[in-house]
Amino acid sequence: MEQTFIIVKPEGVARGLVGEVLSRFERKGLKIKRLAMGEVKEDVAKVHYGHHADKPFFGELIQAITAGPVVFAVLEGPGAVQHVRNLIGATDPFKAAPGTIRGDFALENPFNIVHASDSPETAKEEIKRFFGD
Ligand code: CMP
Repeated sequence: MEQTFIIVKPEGVARGLVGEVLSRFERKGLKIKRLAMGEVKEDVAKVHYGHHADKPFFGELIQAITAGPVVFAVLEGPGAVQHVRNLIGATDPFKAAPGTIRGDFALENPFNIVHASDSPETAKEEIKRFFGD
């Protein structure tokens, strides 16, 4: 069964949105297979967002994801990657449709509340990165 990986980012945890975010995934029918609270250390953040290293916003992105506690989860279900991406909405909160997590709870990047894997292959890498084998 397909799995995906999500992070409720520091601003989502600080604003008390963990239950809200996870409940949207559960209501859709996705199963929470793993769940943990933790933090993203700077060295791990730089690997996780390595594909954005040349972007002007890289510094603020690393600062934002390392700013405080986060919640990590592995979600499972048919088409889990695409379903989660549909539920969270567009990366840019200005473009995220109302009814999506980012559309309902975020104002601007990098504070878009949730990270989610962009493919099943990326999900495998990210699950290993944050949960180990
Ligand atoms: P995420 O899905 O975690 O993947 C990359 C992140 O980079 C994205 O969510 C945003 O938090 C952040 N991001 C993307 N574009 C910008 C931008 N223009 N300015 C600041 N942060 C950005």
